[in-house]
Amino acid sequence: MKVQRILTALLLVSNITSSSCFLEAFTDALKHSAVYKFFERDDLLVFDPKRLEKDLNDFLFGQHIASNVILKSVSSFMTDSKPNKPLVLSLHGTTGTGKNHVTKILARNIYKKGEESKHVQIYVSEYNFPDRGKVDLYTAQLRQWIYGNVSSFPRSMFIFDEMDKMQPQLIDVLKPFLDYSLVNGVSFHNAIFIFLSNAGGKVIADLALDFWREGKNREDLWMNSRELEIKISTNVYNDKNCGFLHTSIIDEHLIDHFIPFLPLELKHVRQCVLAEMKHLNITKDDELADEVARDMPYFPEEERIFAVKGCKSVRQKLVLHVDE
Ligand SMILES: Nc1ncnc2c1ncn2[C@@H]1O[C@H](COP(=O)(O)OP(=O)(O)O)[C@@H](O)[C@H]1O
Ligand SMILES: *[C@@H]1O[C@H](CO)[C@@H](O)[C@H](O)[C@H]1NC(C)=O
Ligand SMILES: *[C@@H]1O[C@H](CO)[C@@H](O)[C@H](O)[C@H]1NC(C)=O
Repeated sequence: MKVQRILTALLLVSNITSSSCFLEAFTDALKHSAVYKFFERDDLLVFDPKRLEKDLNDFLFGQHIASNVILKSVSSFMTDSKPNKPLVLSLHGTTGTGKNHVTKILARNIYKKGEESKHVQIYVSEYNFPDRGKVDLYTAQLRQWIYGNVSSFPRSMFIFDEMDKMQPQLIDVLKPFLDYSLVNGVSFHNAIFIFLSNAGGKVIADLALDFWREGKNREDLWMNSRELEIKISTNVYNDKNCGFLHTSIIDEHLIDHFIPFLPLELKHVRQCVLAEMKHLNITKDDELADEVARDMPYFPEEERIFAVKGCKSVRQKLVLHVDE
């Protein structure tokens, strides 16, 4: 790290001269230098639960369970001055339902630079760990990365996308970091780990569909309804195509919450289209929003209730419609 080297060099010099005057001049200079700004820029925000609540309300559509569990767990973790283990969340649901999206909302509630912060590490199995034959190398790398990041900055965030495609050996390397213990005297208790996967997505979608067919309100489906959380964790555990299978992090209950992302309905997709219009500086147009939302595929075949791809590629669809 270049900046670290500069700082070490400066501190060494200041030790040698051992003059407080020098130190004063040094800190003064530092305040106006790029070095100082570099550190300041990546600082943490003062965590405000109200702001997170508002952001979830305003920007995460159709996920009342996830909003609620994430708000409560993250708020209590962030306001705890001495947490006794890191926060470990596992987000589940079919594609495009907002799992990556919510990690961005979280990041911008924790770091000034949001997801761009260098304290947010995002790993996508097929991108970062593509070669199954190299699992030993990946394992060593990942261990070093997590250790290195947390020892230099305790409030680090690690996001693992496509967790279901990750090799069990690679998942198991996370284990010592997720529990109550110290690793080489370093505490990981302030770190945040978020796992994203489609595993359990079908169970969640089926349950949501049952609910809908019984004429019940989506919003009446809760974590404890029909043991949703237990169903997800058992399903993840038993899914033969899933990297989670029989990994020690599930065996040892190191995940604080399994959080379901429900399949999205037409009205939520419509909200996504409106959000994209705003983002792209397109004048708000309810009719166009309707049109774009209706243009997406829905399942099951007869009833067409839930968006097959959630809100994924809504932007691309919108752009097509605008160009017409
Ligand atoms: N529940 C949601 N609320 C608001 N926007 C959403 C939601 N789900 C998906 N989106 C939009 O669709 C895009 C793709 O969703 P993403 O979070 O990547 O899905 P996944 O669940 O597969 O991680 C997001 O960038 C976001 O713009
Ligand atoms: C943090 O992790 C990234 C990979 O995600 C790695 O490149 C970087 O060197 C790590 N930082 C430290 C300080 O170890
Ligand atoms: C939308 O407009 C804002 C302010 O006018 C601008 O900062 C932003 O870059 C624009 N976004 C796009 C996608 O054009």
